[in-house]
Amino acid sequence: MKIAVLKETVEGERRVAATPETVKKFIALGAEMAVERGAGASASIADADFEAAGATLGSRADVLQGADAVLAVQGPSPGDLGDIKPGALVVAALNPFGERERVDAYAAVGVEALAMEFMPRITRAQSMDILSSQANLAGYKAVLDAASEYGRAFPMMMTAAGTISAARVFIMGVGVAGLQAIATAKRLGAVVSATDVRAATREQIESLGGKAIFVEEVKGIEGEGAGGYATEMSDEYKMAQAELVSSHIAKQDIVITTALIPGRPAPRLISDAQVATMKPGSVIVDLAVEQGGNVEGAVAGEIVERHGVKIVGHRNVPSRLAADTSALYARNLYNFLSAFWDQEAKRVVLPDDDEIVKGVRLTKGGKVVNERLSTG
Ligand code: NAI
Repeated sequence: MKIAVLKETVEGERRVAATPETVKKFIALGAEMAVERGAGASASIADADFEAAGATLGSRADVLQGADAVLAVQGPSPGDLGDIKPGALVVAALNPFGERERVDAYAAVGVEALAMEFMPRITRAQSMDILSSQANLAGYKAVLDAASEYGRAFPMMMTAAGTISAARVFIMGVGVAGLQAIATAKRLGAVVSATDVRAATREQIESLGGKAIFVEEVKGIEGEGAGGYATEMSDEYKMAQAELVSSHIAKQDIVITTALIPGRPAPRLISDAQVATMKPGSVIVDLAVEQGGNVEGAVAGEIVERHGVKIVGHRNVPSRLAADTSALYARNLYNFLSAFWDQEAKRVVLPDDDEIVKGVRLTKGGKVVNERLSTG
């Protein structure tokens, strides 16, 4: 089985879908690895390191030629499709809801597209979950980005010239990114509070030393839908949440928002009027900015200032830590493909009735086959 690893073409994407470590492991299984020249450069991996691991380096056309699987971060570009043979696996973060036309294009050329962000949230698939691995580091980086935009220190400091008080950090959305943001802000010495719609997060916040800020006694408070994800909340809940947040937010120095609802625009958690209640010099980081944003006025790819408050909207935060996020992403892909490795045939065999395969497979045999896409 020939596995191709592409250099990313999307602007600002610094990650790579394989590392020398995963190249070696794939070769040990019996695969042939072909890595596009320069694929790892922006994640601090030299071509020579891939070569030393046993990969063949080549041009994009060379590596795609005859490949049985193509590994990428943001997926091959439409221009590549003519070079990929029908039936080949395309394994990447394919943004199926956001780029539906691309899914149809994959079906049209007969490749088998596997969207890694559709990995089911089951124990067996934890080590294959790119959303978790990337969100974890994004949550960490969001706190550092906030700290670097903030004109004050995070920890309380007692100096000969007097005391500096600790920063107050509020995390909205306590999934994988939010939990790591709480832990990181705590490590930096901040006073941390957090909120979520899923009641189960209360204990998690407290166990990390944060204060849980929750809407109480409102209908539909559970907030937990399929697979441990959040659901859209009732209007009554949204009003109660807005009120609670308004009184809390005005006292915060840093707010980090991470709230997402799969397949829908990100919920709006902070209005412009609420931003205006914060102290000048405060910083908000909106990690959901590319999915529509949790914060009114946040702009993807920019740091804007509203009412003296900086609103940070970096795109593709995982890419800002490309060496580490690539290492984890590459392992997620290896863990997925190796779980379905057929020793005798020396290739990946994906059974149609497997829960993981059904979750991630978007196209097969010229058709779009994923349930989440056909039911909208
Ligand atoms: P996510 O990235 O989809 O959303 C981030 C957070 O925003 C979630 O905690 C969500 O509840 C929250 N949120 C949504 N709407 C909100 C609102 N209006 N106000 C406040 N918060 C709001 O979620 P993520 O990080 O992908 O994780 C979701 C869950 O899945 C977690 O419980 C996590 O532990 C679980 N999980 C399970 C895995 C497995 O079993 N394989 C792997 C990874 C995560």
